[in-house]
Amino acid sequence: MLKINKMCACYGESSVIRDLDLDVADGKIVCLIGRNGVGKSTTLKSIMGLVSTPEGSITLDGTEIIKMPTYDRVKLGIGYVPQGRDIFPQMTVQENLELGLQAAGKGKKIPDYIYDLFPILPEFAKRRGGDLSGGQQQQLAIARALVTGPKILILDEPTEGIQPSIIQDIGRAIKRVNKELGITVLIVEQYLDFVLNISDYIYIMEKGNIVMQGETDKLPAEEVQKMMTE
Ligand SMILES: Nc1ncnc2c1ncn2[C@@H]1O[C@H](COP(=O)(O)OP(=O)(O)O)[C@@H](O)[C@H]1O
Ligand SMILES: [Mg+2]
Repeated sequence: MLKINKMCACYGESSVIRDLDLDVADGKIVCLIGRNGVGKSTTLKSIMGLVSTPEGSITLDGTEIIKMPTYDRVKLGIGYVPQGRDIFPQMTVQENLELGLQAAGKGKKIPDYIYDLFPILPEFAKRRGGDLSGGQQQQLAIARALVTGPKILILDEPTEGIQPSIIQDIGRAIKRVNKELGITVLIVEQYLDFVLNISDYIYIMEKGNIVMQGETDKLPAEEVQKMMTE
């Protein structure tokens, strides 16, 4: 589905990712984990075309996208939920979702499965995004990415700053998105329990590159834990 090959990413003169290879197989939930500042968000921004990627390749179902503008990547089927959620606080829940639809040129009708996945959203349709709790904003941000009808959904730290009961709701919703809608998922996370519970495959990043990877149930959990905390 998504293949990153020998990719480099930088902010101005400062190179953050070097020679990164990463594969997200069709239909899987893949997690990219690692400590603060190693380059996880930069990797997702590279996939979206939001940072400079002077070298390498990123393909989506075989189509090279590394030079495409962000807008075209969304149209091609990548849904992105940024770190910190970035919903529009002054706009209503409904308006936030409609903006997602516009981004993909998909008309004005919000698909029913969105409200089925996140029942609080129709309830709060007229509320301002900024008045929702962190967990509700996260659900709105995921819904906004899903209305574009993506093939792959990428999420940057969806559990950050969210209370445990809501984290479970979000985990269940992501699993349903994957199993019922058949959408491939790539998640950047630091919360290991969540990762072990949700993922099929894990990549571990240190200082701009992958240092370990494997199927979730085959990775040595203790060693992974150590790499995340030391
Ligand atoms: N806009 C930016 N300009 C310059 N450096 C940045 C910018 N954003 C992030 N960085 C640097 O890039 C590195 C990787 O950051 P990031 O991808 O956000 O890490 P992570 O998401 O793993 O915490 C860090 O050293 C960070 O300071
Ligand atoms: Mg980050």
